[in-house]
Amino acid sequence: MSEPIVLGIETSCDETGIGIVRGTTLLADALASSVDEHARFGGVVPEIASRAHLEAMLPTIDRALAQAQLTLAEIDAIAVTRNPGLIGALLVGVAAAEGLASGLGIQLHHVDHLDAHIAVDVLNNGLLDEPAVALLVSGGHSSLLLVEDITLGAKLMGRSIDDAAGEAYDKVARLLELPFPGGPQIDKAAKTGDALAIKFPRGLTAAHDLVEHKFDFSFSGLKTAVARWVEAQQKAGTAISVSDVAASFQEAVVDVLTQKAISACREAGVGTLLLGGGVAANSRLRALAEQRTAAAGITLRVPPPELCTDNGAMVAALGALRLRAGRPATRGN
Ligand code: KG4
Ligand code: ZN
Repeated sequence: MSEPIVLGIETSCDETGIGIVRGTTLLADALASSVDEHARFGGVVPEIASRAHLEAMLPTIDRALAQAQLTLAEIDAIAVTRNPGLIGALLVGVAAAEGLASGLGIQLHHVDHLDAHIAVDVLNNGLLDEPAVALLVSGGHSSLLLVEDITLGAKLMGRSIDDAAGEAYDKVARLLELPFPGGPQIDKAAKTGDALAIKFPRGLTAAHDLVEHKFDFSFSGLKTAVARWVEAQQKAGTAISVSDVAASFQEAVVDVLTQKAISACREAGVGTLLLGGGVAANSRLRALAEQRTAAAGITLRVPPPELCTDNGAMVAALGALRLRAGRPATRGN
């Protein structure tokens, strides 16, 4: 008998994601984004996101089913992101998932958003060699996690104590008058800039910070340092090289992320590092992570960029792994 088919629903932020997975094979990944509706506010507005999820839910489910050439009756289980995320946005996904699962009389698995970011890697790179360390970096989270068994949930080793990495990218982009979301814009601008042009601070890397915050991140001081630097240049009437600021800022972010990820692997005694989250699409983060993991003898796994950002396939992938491991449904049998 072929493996069960799982439909995954993701609505934790501004993306309505519906994915369909059979075992570890991706069958469909449909996405509706309200990002354009938030652009003029420079960040995600929760109420707008929730309404957009409501409107997009049924059409996106239909698109995913059409992509997979399946009908709802052929779905064996539903998985949905329960946490963390915007509460109103999550509610739309959970309500849809509960309605579908009870209407179809099939299992429902509530899953953690961060665990789903990790599980998605299985779709392109095969089953994860556990234990592993995961570095998840997005607009909402920057975390280092120990993955012993993803079907039971990853364990937090460290996280950002203020801004998430993607949030810092977005805020610095705004400062540089680049459009939202700023991550891809800074990535692009940095390609022609000098990463050594300006020495920006590396948050929580001083010896005294490592005592309490060994695997935690802080990007808000960096963001302020960039703002001060830009202000000072403007006051002095000096022209700013956006590409140099972008490259130097980006280097400060990815330097700390990769340094701490590698030391987390060393401390946990694991040989695999997995990247995930929207910022994992960053070209410099990928390059530096490749260089530093190779030097440390650590295997690096990175999902393709389109699966690093929020999507439904990651939720379906984790649901399918839970079914395969015989984990109980959170609702239904
Ligand atoms: O995972 P994601 O789609 O949504 C959240 O859960 O936040 O991540 C979105 C974040 C945004 O902050 C965006 O600026 C950032 O990921 N991002 C990037 C790149 N592509 C997206 N940051 C740096 N470089 C990129 N290439
Ligand atoms: Zn995410």
